[in-house]
Amino acid sequence: MNIIPRPFETKVKDGNTCFSASTRVNCDFDIIKSELNFLDFEEGEVNNITFKIGDTDFDYELTIDGDITVVAKTEEGLFHGCQTLKQLIFDGYRDGVATLENCVIKDKPRFPYRSFMLDIVRHFFDKEVIKGLIDILALVKINRFHLHLSDNQGYRVESTVFPALNEKANFRPGTKGDGVPVGGYLTKDDVREIVAYAGERFIEVVPEVDLPGHTLAFLLAMPELGCTGEQYAPTESYGIDDRILCAGNEKVYDFIEKLLTELSELFPSKYFHLGGDEVPKSQWRQCKKCQELMAREHLNDCEELQGYFTNRVINILKSLGKTPIVWNEALYSGILDDSAICQYWSDGKKATAVRDALASGRKMYVSRTFPYYIDYPHGMNKLKSTYNFEPTSCFKGVSAENIDENIMGVECPLWTEWVADVDKLHRQAFPRTIAVAETGWSTPEKDYKDFEERLYNVLGMLEAYEIGYTHPKKANPNPFKALGETLAFLTNMIEPAAIKSLINARDAKKGMKK
Ligand code: ACM
Ligand code: ZN
Repeated sequence: MNIIPRPFETKVKDGNTCFSASTRVNCDFDIIKSELNFLDFEEGEVNNITFKIGDTDFDYELTIDGDITVVAKTEEGLFHGCQTLKQLIFDGYRDGVATLENCVIKDKPRFPYRSFMLDIVRHFFDKEVIKGLIDILALVKINRFHLHLSDNQGYRVESTVFPALNEKANFRPGTKGDGVPVGGYLTKDDVREIVAYAGERFIEVVPEVDLPGHTLAFLLAMPELGCTGEQYAPTESYGIDDRILCAGNEKVYDFIEKLLTELSELFPSKYFHLGGDEVPKSQWRQCKKCQELMAREHLNDCEELQGYFTNRVINILKSLGKTPIVWNEALYSGILDDSAICQYWSDGKKATAVRDALASGRKMYVSRTFPYYIDYPHGMNKLKSTYNFEPTSCFKGVSAENIDENIMGVECPLWTEWVADVDKLHRQAFPRTIAVAETGWSTPEKDYKDFEERLYNVLGMLEAYEIGYTHPKKANPNPFKALGETLAFLTNMIEPAAIKSLINARDAKKGMKK
């Protein structure tokens, strides 16, 4: 049956069942009733569809046998059952009536954390674009939307506590001298609307404020929070910047506490991402305040200073009732608070630190660059590679119990340095996000051909929602095309600032202990 993610158990039975305008809907949940109303239906056979809370060992059970019944312990399970049913209805829809194969589906997720990330800093995308994405994420049972809200290029939420952030840190005159201005931010009302829209669809919006690196935007608005106090100009480049928040200045912690408090009032999520990736320490090494703090706190090097800084932010988040998430570089100080969940993205020899952390019980989810970075061209991360990737394969040598207990799930991040419009955003996101959704939900067996066959039905639904995508053929380019796409992507990155970024990247890795 053409369902993505593939359900845990599907038994097809004899006969068909009709879904039409004559099907009586018995359901106490408005969101489910409105979700079912996604096509124009004509009158047909009279029958019943019933969504009811009941006892089951599964997330939901769907029975189609003349009538349609969905049973789940929670409204969330019923919503998931409804998404499965929507795909079947779409597949069987002809001339105003859907004909469904009789079946019994018993379904449950493999991982509890199934996430998509959007960077709204490098290019800004508004609430309507975000809600459009949420519709598709819900359809494939993704349950987290990670919003990357701050970076060198901007801070993208209205702040009434620090209005300077919106006045001075939301705009750049162009990118690499192209003269095309980029700006914008979500108002507080926009955020409330997005959070509510996602919440109705059982998706938690997880905000990220990237700290202490990727923070030039804060210094544009408040230069006194940097090590030098210098007033910088907005950057027109990407990459890794060494102009970061000063770790030795108490005013910085004060600022972070107020900012995170303001955001926590807007984002009710259990989780809060505090970044921690790519932190060059050159300014910290030169800064009197940072050095004095290191002496006072008996910190041996700047890596431990990042650990100290991050732990203070974690304490702020804990006081706000949040569970912190960090990118994997934050592990490398060796003193990171145990409560922080690690988002594993960067590979290479430092991956041993990630494995060690998992082996010692740190919670983690996987968004490894290859093949989960969906901002990369398909030539670099083919749909097939993204689909076939087994997230636990990164952790060879770690016990199965540890993996079972501590790998929470998966995420595909969509960075937007090179994604300036909605069409491209959709083509990068889909269908690769759909492949990751299946990995997050379904049992680990993979058969790409079978996945692609099931995919066309969901792609038809994207068309109905007016959401773009890359055709599977183009999403799996041949080696020649793949090389062309890769070279074009890398060439695009070449600029004078890229050399500085590479130096900063080296510096960011310098102090790593493992
Ligand atoms: C990252 O890609 N810098 C987390
Ligand atoms: Zn400093």
